[in-house]
Amino acid sequence: MNTNHLSLKLFLNSQQQAHKTDQNLCSLIESIAHTCQKISGLVSQGALENVLGSAESSNIQGETQQKLDVLTNNMLIDSCQASGFLSGLASEELDEILITPSQYSSGDYLLLFDPLDGSSNIDVNVSIGTIFSILKKPTHHNLISEKDFLQKGSEQVAAGYVLYGPQTTLVLTLGQGVFMFTLDKSTKEYLLTRENVLIPEDSKEFSINMSNMRHWAPPVRKYVEECLAGSTGPRQKDFNMRWIASMVADVHRILTRGGIFMYPWDQREPGKPGKLRLMYEANPMSFLIEQAGGASINSQQNILSIQPLKLHERVSVILGSKNEVAKLLEYHQGL
Ligand code: AHG
Ligand code: MN
Ligand code: MN
Repeated sequence: MNTNHLSLKLFLNSQQQAHKTDQNLCSLIESIAHTCQKISGLVSQGALENVLGSAESSNIQGETQQKLDVLTNNMLIDSCQASGFLSGLASEELDEILITPSQYSSGDYLLLFDPLDGSSNIDVNVSIGTIFSILKKPTHHNLISEKDFLQKGSEQVAAGYVLYGPQTTLVLTLGQGVFMFTLDKSTKEYLLTRENVLIPEDSKEFSINMSNMRHWAPPVRKYVEECLAGSTGPRQKDFNMRWIASMVADVHRILTRGGIFMYPWDQREPGKPGKLRLMYEANPMSFLIEQAGGASINSQQNILSIQPLKLHERVSVILGSKNEVAKLLEYHQGL
């Protein structure tokens, strides 16, 4: 092990000193990271722990839940409620918000999470993850309700994800840049392995589920057709394509080497703005991407400036390298 790597704990201490980050927020993040370290262990045991396959239940969005969706949701609820730093939490896998029960102390923060992102990849042993977003409880009242969670993404005080891939990686922002930590499985400690991540402004790699091409709106189709035309088309360069079907893994690649990720509105369900969830997926990922110098829009506006109207709201997502996102914005504005 390279002993020069700072532990998550020491990193958070340094943030407290440098930016006056609240100690309770740091402790909450440590608690989430600790639970994800346990999830990482469970994920890697797979069939040996009988955690693969369907739970034969469905969530409020009508999606079939996998065993790991349910298990990870319960693990995060139990540990984060008991941490004493939360007034309440909301999850992709819960119908309604959970107010911290009276047996635990209540704190200043609200937590939102996608406990297991990339469910379709669990059984095929492809990277999956946990995504989280932390908001401050509005101070004007004591009893919280769903309305308190409906804050714009720009209000997030911290966000991140843990990727369960060949390595387990925690990626975190507290609004002062993006930091990556690798879990050392022998000591169960997260160690800082990349600081102040910056996404290249230009890219030659796009990420979208191409099987939906015939359903896309014209601006998205135009953008992708130009990428496919390569060096002999208007973009005058060849593009590469990647689609992992775990947002957490696709966004991690973009934070690592640039690119653009799209899950846009399409005609399959025209009444729905998109597939991905604003509060559990789009907001935390957009916060990370913007903190790394990238951009994130639905199609017309910055995702972080969207006023949420309901907890399980869906949204179209286009994020990644700044100049590529700008091109898609232009196309949507008819320029
Ligand atoms: P989840 O497993 O939390 O429901 O999220 C899956 C999401 C996202 O991670 C991924 O980008 C997208 O669904 C994949 O969708 P397709 O299967 O339609 O490509
Ligand atoms: Mn997800
Ligand atoms: Mn999920």
